[in-house]
Amino acid sequence: MHSTSFALKDVEHIFNSVYQDIDGYALSRQGKNRLKNNNKALIYGEVTLTALAAILHDLPIQAQHRIFYDLGSGTGKAVVGAALLGSFERVVGIELVEELAATARQLAQRLPPRFPPQARNHRQIVLEFHHGDFRDYNFSDGDVIFIQSTCYDAALMHELAQKLLHQKLGSLIITVSQSLIVPHLRVLKTQKCVMGWGTVSVYIHEKI
Ligand SMILES: C[S@@+](CC[C@H](N)C(=O)[O-])C[C@H]1O[C@@H](n2cnc3c(N)ncnc32)[C@H](O)[C@@H]1O
Repeated sequence: MHSTSFALKDVEHIFNSVYQDIDGYALSRQGKNRLKNNNKALIYGEVTLTALAAILHDLPIQAQHRIFYDLGSGTGKAVVGAALLGSFERVVGIELVEELAATARQLAQRLPPRFPPQARNHRQIVLEFHHGDFRDYNFSDGDVIFIQSTCYDAALMHELAQKLLHQKLGSLIITVSQSLIVPHLRVLKTQKCVMGWGTVSVYIHEKI
């Protein structure tokens, strides 16, 4: 079963109107200056709706896949995109930089209470944006986990891999630019996608 059963164009205008006046890169710079934190993991970059649609379209989504997480969610583009494109019941973003997490929370208010009839999600969906370090969160209820991991170092990837030990069997973990090589995750597929900053490899893992 595919998670996107309708054209991207049906939801593109909603997505674009939510983000039309938002500069996530500037918000990220502002937050990092305030925190005086130059950690490489905080380097900002955004998923495009087209890339997310391509990723979700090809995922082996099952009926039990109901909860989507983005670990390091920025202004929430992956979370909002998953809400619009997917068949999830709950979509959750966790973001360390307060300026980004707060903006994502405000932007969620711009979404229509119900998505258009052509969207699969023609119903209420729970959107949550948390401000904090995803390493401190329990996301073991997540069925699909998205991680824009291009700038995450080996230590952070290792910590993530350990936390992902607690995911349900059959849950799907998406990483960008680098895969997770551990016995409890199997890479199902690799695909090329165009993100805000260029073409990257995307890895789809299954929890085994
Ligand atoms: C490359 S950006 C991706 C933003 C968003 N996922 C997207 O695709 O549009 C990575 C984000 O992860 C956040 N981040 C990095 N380490 C984090 C951590 N330990 N906990 C929460 N957020 C983190 C950064 O601040 C940044 O906003």
